[in-house]
Amino acid sequence: MADYDYDVLVIGAGPGGYVAAIRAAQLGLKTACAEGRETLGGTCLNVGCIPSKAMLHASEYFEQAASGAMTKLGVKVTPELDLEAMHGQRRDSVKGLTGGIEFLFKKNKIDWLKGYAQFKDAHTVEVAGKSVTAKNIVIATGSSVTPLPGVEIDNEKGVVVDSTGALELASVPRKMVVIGGGVIGLELGSVWRRLGAEVTVVEFLDQLLPGMDGEVRKEAGKLFKKQGMTLKLGTKVTGVEVKGKKAKVTVGPAAGGDAEVIEADAVLVSIGRRPNTEGLGLDKIGLELNQRGQIETDHDFATKVDGVWAIGDVIPGPMLAHKAEDEGIAVAENIAGLTGIVNHDVIPGVVYTFPEIAGVGLTEEAAKERGAVKVGKFPMLANSRAKTNHEPDGFVKVIADAETDRVLGVWCIASVAGTMIAQAAQAMEFGATSEDIAYTCHAHPTHSEAIKEAAMAVTGKPIHI
Ligand code: FAD
Ligand code: NAI
Repeated sequence: MADYDYDVLVIGAGPGGYVAAIRAAQLGLKTACAEGRETLGGTCLNVGCIPSKAMLHASEYFEQAASGAMTKLGVKVTPELDLEAMHGQRRDSVKGLTGGIEFLFKKNKIDWLKGYAQFKDAHTVEVAGKSVTAKNIVIATGSSVTPLPGVEIDNEKGVVVDSTGALELASVPRKMVVIGGGVIGLELGSVWRRLGAEVTVVEFLDQLLPGMDGEVRKEAGKLFKKQGMTLKLGTKVTGVEVKGKKAKVTVGPAAGGDAEVIEADAVLVSIGRRPNTEGLGLDKIGLELNQRGQIETDHDFATKVDGVWAIGDVIPGPMLAHKAEDEGIAVAENIAGLTGIVNHDVIPGVVYTFPEIAGVGLTEEAAKERGAVKVGKFPMLANSRAKTNHEPDGFVKVIADAETDRVLGVWCIASVAGTMIAQAAQAMEFGATSEDIAYTCHAHPTHSEAIKEAAMAVTGKPIHI
């Protein structure tokens, strides 16, 4: 048998790759991880989940103070924005967490190969001019921003930016145009709106947040409008012209029609992300991409090439950190000869705006396509905790199979929907019926009681409406 430098070599140290490396090492495999960035943690920790949540958290406090919401609670404050301090706490969070992964690598005796890896053959990669061999190689190279043809992103200049640039803006833009009403556009658009920007979201489709439940998308649109965002749905951007520190964004109806020019101090391009496969040398190992530029795997995360595996944003499925992490654990377990499984039917998704928007499982539309369903809904307005906290917006919706009552999907719009959705995911993972949720005792007063009541509503018997 060939002698390899490592049992497992992971390419990329994002939530997929670093988790795969740690689990492989925990299972006694000699493990290395190649990462070209200066810090570990990938998109998520460096320029994604973590810094965006740091800005969302801080800007939410600012808005609560500035909007008078705190005064209504009897807390009088006169807020003053210190944007540099806000950026500082964001950088501190990133530094702490990326440093934490470095600590975990050392603790688990994982070698960090600093540099970008390229395949020479299925068991050999070159990193920083050195050849390294491994019995198993896991591709976890993640994704990057999808560019908009004809629109040049320049994060340094800070006028036309991607999500990385939008996290770093040195001052609050007076007017901001967000191209793409998806997760990034709404989260980062919310940050700058809360801090004082006039935000216009230009979305190609006729609703925000594609992929989410139809009723949730409609309600989200109403809420963002109520918060002061201008939504241009069914609209496309046909050009962006930058002059000095200003941009002119030309937009028009997606179906064709008269154009309109919107002036902006900042333009965020957030029309999706695409898998990172360029420069990996996949041709050297004969690994082809699918039509969407992704690497296909089987259920075990093995690619068509023996000894080569792939996980995270670079393979099909939602581009989410927790999906990548679970795949990281599963692939390491499969490499070690155990049975690593990810249930791709139960991957929650959360938009961390205010209120938060979360869902798991099927949308009502998708569930109805599969057969008859029963749907229970409960408004947050009737939830005692949400009402007491002055957070009346949103609802919970439980979708169950009409015949078996098995829960097929749960959707929430609520201040803490991201936390609430975990119980729905767990219930679905255990194959729960709506009745199981309805008869589970939930602590009072909590927002989660709305999930219980929505489950009760599936059979028509909620208590509080
Ligand atoms: P990545 O995190 O992209 O990591 C891949 C790593 O591989 C990178 O560090 C890259 O430098 C490295 N790499 C690439 N090629 C090579 C090579 N050849 N050699 C060596 N290294 C290489 N998801 C959530 O679930 N929740 C959120 O709140 C959330 N917020 C987000 C906010 C923003 C602004 C963005 C952009 C994304 C957000 N995401 C969120 C998505 C999440 O970041 C990704 O789904 C997740 O990071 C994917 O993990 P990954 O390990 O597949 O890849
Ligand atoms: P997205 O796919 O969520 O949204 C992109 C939006 O842009 C869509 O609504 C699409 O219809 C629209 N669009 C596409 N082309 C357009 C055009 N030319 N003009 C106008 N609109 C156009 O992608 P986004 O927001 O860039 O995020 C990328 C990925 O990052 C997502 O897949 C998401 O899963 C992940 N992410 C997750 C977060 C979370 O879990 N909270 C936060 C941020 C990102």
